[in-house]
Amino acid sequence: MLKHVENPIDNAQLHDDNENIPSNNSGNRPFTDVLKTNLSRRKVLAGSVAAAAAGFFAPAASASLRGMDRSNDRINRELVGFKPVAISDVTDVRMPTISEDYEYQSFIPWGTPIQPGITSEYAGDPSTRPTSAQAELQVGIGHDGMWFFPIDFDLQMEYGRRYRARSDEGMLCINHEFGTNPHVLGKDAPESLEDVRLSQHVHGVSVLHIKEHFDGWRVESSPNARRITVNTPVEFAGPAADSALLQNPAGNMPLGTVNNCGSGPTPWGTYLTCEENFNGYFGSSTLTGEEFEAVRTEEQARYGFSAFGFGYGWHMFDQRFDLTNADYVNEHNRFGWIVEIDPFNGTKKPVKRTAMGRFKHEAVAIAESADGRIAAYMGDDQRFDYCYKYVSNEPWRDVIERGDSPLDDGKLFVARYDEDGTGEWMELTIDNPLLADRFADQAELLINTRVAADILGATPMDRPEWTTIGQKGDVYWTLTNNSQREVANAANPQTPNSDGHIIRTVDTADHMGNTFTWEIYLLSSDTRGTEGVFTDPDLAWSDANGRLFIGTDGGQPDGLQDQLTVIDTNKPTPEPKRLLVGVASDEVTGFTVTPDRRTAFVNLQHPGNGNPAATNFPAAPDGVTIPRDVTLVLRRKNGAVIGS
Ligand code: FEO
Ligand code: CA
Ligand code: CA
Ligand code: CA
Repeated sequence: MLKHVENPIDNAQLHDDNENIPSNNSGNRPFTDVLKTNLSRRKVLAGSVAAAAAGFFAPAASASLRGMDRSNDRINRELVGFKPVAISDVTDVRMPTISEDYEYQSFIPWGTPIQPGITSEYAGDPSTRPTSAQAELQVGIGHDGMWFFPIDFDLQMEYGRRYRARSDEGMLCINHEFGTNPHVLGKDAPESLEDVRLSQHVHGVSVLHIKEHFDGWRVESSPNARRITVNTPVEFAGPAADSALLQNPAGNMPLGTVNNCGSGPTPWGTYLTCEENFNGYFGSSTLTGEEFEAVRTEEQARYGFSAFGFGYGWHMFDQRFDLTNADYVNEHNRFGWIVEIDPFNGTKKPVKRTAMGRFKHEAVAIAESADGRIAAYMGDDQRFDYCYKYVSNEPWRDVIERGDSPLDDGKLFVARYDEDGTGEWMELTIDNPLLADRFADQAELLINTRVAADILGATPMDRPEWTTIGQKGDVYWTLTNNSQREVANAANPQTPNSDGHIIRTVDTADHMGNTFTWEIYLLSSDTRGTEGVFTDPDLAWSDANGRLFIGTDGGQPDGLQDQLTVIDTNKPTPEPKRLLVGVASDEVTGFTVTPDRRTAFVNLQHPGNGNPAATNFPAAPDGVTIPRDVTLVLRRKNGAVIGS
């Protein structure tokens, strides 16, 4: 039986028997050893909650949601029944536009202290900036993938579906993908190491303890709240952990994570953050672009390293990021991984899971097979790059029980989409003579995953972004667009592909197989001319009832901005319904819900691209305040499940 574990804790299924749709939740079984671990977590957390207000905005509408009549759930037969935002409703893109059935609270904008009183708040004053030391204690910029872990995760694991996990308090892990120098520093390039440190500290991940109060959600104090930046100690695990290719002559310890794009939770209650455009933070302090291209390795070229990167200029003041500094010759190999973070242990180092491969990791979605093994579906977001799957060798509970990780011992595959609607998962193993010819060992292969996938003839895709496990265990893949596609293949049929599409795959053998079937679920171009129009699908998350939430990243037609749309995948034809339209030049990305699914969190990333003339959100329009990346807390006004 196929399992839905992307949201292992899902009380909404308990509430929504009326929807009469099979539940595939599988993360909820008793598991005593996880329980032991998590019970000790709970002790750490006990007494850590200090009520104090800081850094939140009042709800946009009334906060009188608790105990609301939920009868609409039963009356409303439509799975996605809310009144959509019409194209004509979007009249002022300085502020978001939300369905009239919903309300939002602006929450944890860039500059919010990660604990009350730990530092000052940065509120977007253009005449000043945080110091790097302040930024290290504030919520970063570039809000992207995130996940809500209920504070009583351990009890949920113990009692499974008989226990309703808390939906008003938890740990929120949130990625800070990027902030440009003009947005963060107020200038194009850093002029000092302090400038670089500020840029570095607004990137990374925040782990926050959050709680709902009568007037909305607030950040709380917690020993487990923390910022993880590119300067935080990390460790490597899996087949490449001890590779010489991850060591430098400088002997520097492994530090940090960067360009954390999408994410995904594990069934055992940890957070996986995905390193995407890590190449852009490296450069050469000594060579011109042409000179660097003449000396860079084939592997460096395949991962897009250049003399100037994306213009962050870190390499001018921080030698770790200088590709031509011989002391740090392998530093760049330390990025491009999936990194596991324990939200309930603030002292545990983040762990880079090398078995899951090195590429521009967009996001990850985990499915569980009936035998307890897991499959992780992952996209590599670059034009003409690939779709991947990682499969654990053993049931995850057994591995966790003995203190190891299911993400360290497994097989990595890359997808070939055949023209007839079938496909093959091709294993990336040194046991394949084609790959043994090229790489010395599995470690070198994994560090150069893209090169290995090239050799096997994987299918070049139109920028694989998020993956999500659908209600029936099928997998949805957003392919955001590809302006440079000139040669079509069946899975990427448009030349060029300016609007993007969504593919649905069904894995043979309960996610454990080497083959799959696939279909194009939706061509975004087919939505043009309809009220549900959207393009450039990016974020994807499916709930256990088959509501597919899509966030977009790209210029939207008909005067719209990037948006959050919801599709009922139980219907034979996709009918996107627009829940939210963001502000000028933002991106709608990152999505998570509380266990009861009455509250959702979604991000507006890079509002106005940092330009106060475009929007000042989350501040009211004033033409001056620097717009800040922000999380919107969403609720249906009648208290029903998000997306209904
Ligand atoms: Fe960070 Fe491909 O989006
Ligand atoms: Ca994305
Ligand atoms: Ca994107
Ligand atoms: Ca982005």
